[in-house]
Amino acid sequence: MNDFALKGNILHTAKMGELEIFPDAYLICADGICQGVFYEPPGQYAGIPVTDYSGLLIIPGMTDLHIHAPQFACRGTGMNAELLDWLNTRVFPEEIRFADMDYAARAYQIFADQMRKSATTRAVIFGTTHRNATLLLADLMEASGLVSYIGKVNMDRNAPEDLLESSADAAASDTRAFIRDVINKRYARTKPILTPRFIPCCGDALLFQLSKIRQEFDLPVQSHLSENPAEVELVKTLEPDAEFYGDCYDKYGLFGGESGTIMAHCVYSSDAEIRRMKENGVRIAHCPNSNTNLSSGIAPIRKYIHLGLRVGLGSDVAGGQTESMFRAIADAVQASKIYWRYINHHDKPLTFAESFYLATKGGGSFFGNVGSFETGYEFDALVIDDSKLPCPRPLSLADRLERAVYLGLDQTSITAKYARGLKIL
Ligand code: GUN
Ligand code: FE
Repeated sequence: MNDFALKGNILHTAKMGELEIFPDAYLICADGICQGVFYEPPGQYAGIPVTDYSGLLIIPGMTDLHIHAPQFACRGTGMNAELLDWLNTRVFPEEIRFADMDYAARAYQIFADQMRKSATTRAVIFGTTHRNATLLLADLMEASGLVSYIGKVNMDRNAPEDLLESSADAAASDTRAFIRDVINKRYARTKPILTPRFIPCCGDALLFQLSKIRQEFDLPVQSHLSENPAEVELVKTLEPDAEFYGDCYDKYGLFGGESGTIMAHCVYSSDAEIRRMKENGVRIAHCPNSNTNLSSGIAPIRKYIHLGLRVGLGSDVAGGQTESMFRAIADAVQASKIYWRYINHHDKPLTFAESFYLATKGGGSFFGNVGSFETGYEFDALVIDDSKLPCPRPLSLADRLERAVYLGLDQTSITAKYARGLKIL
């Protein structure tokens, strides 16, 4: 048995918007599973090793529901374009480089190292169309200790030839081989996810093939949805018979379902699209940093929460300039305030505790019981040392957490990090 306890100031949001605070308490882990928070460890845990983080903040690990590993080198560059131009001028030329395994090895090592140091314990990740490079990414993420889903990207139209697969059949056979490769590796922490890039890059024949693969392997799906006005118009031109953008995925059983579907963005989803997302249990990866950088807009997250849709946060590197989930939490609050002020004053801004929930339990639920310190939850935890931030007066624990997030202490001050009970930092 691998049982241990962490001692410190414990904070989490087991319920949306409700920050629970346990000053100077014990957080107990047995075999990777959280046994709860206690002021005195119960008798059966009397002798377990305790790591003393007294005075520090102990919070759940973060889930990044949407990130592109091959775009890590593009962070913070080319940010004057909107989505479709940005893809053509920055993203596709970078992703083409991943045909070269030496380049892929260098780039993905940088990515995996950074993810290990980040606040993220769970990630849902896009690779490129390249099967071998994406398998290497899976190897490196497994070694990082994070728990992740990795997708080999599928695309067969509207991109440079060097990035496209030669046919829908070729894409499908490569995707099948990638999935088999991942299964054969018997990773403990890494799983495959079906990844059609987005409708402008995926024709009907390809989506049909992916629907068959989904049935065969019972896989979750990740993609993009209603991110940018020109993109939404392009989809209408390409797929005039679809009821709405998301219907193009739904026609092929790639929009919801038991094994789960994550759609990034949903900035311009129509009422009909929203209704279908709700009916099908589609999850939304809200990526406010990317939506600002690419002038995409602001997703109506208060409305989605109100309607009971499942929402988590994504960094969307490199639309987003950073993998920092602390930044994503602050950005989600700030974007919601602009939305409320300028777009719809009925949609109240997100509170800090609501946004914190989205980054932890909201997104974490894609992985099961993940994202809080409730008993039975998988043990993902961060220890944050905010002692180097000077303040002339004592702060409450709630203020200390909010300050640590807004000031980006995940970049400098993670003292320890645990994913599914394993100490990875
Ligand atoms: N839509 C299709 N591909 C991409 C991508 O790589 N990033 C973002 N933000 N949107 C996309
Ligand atoms: Fe994206």
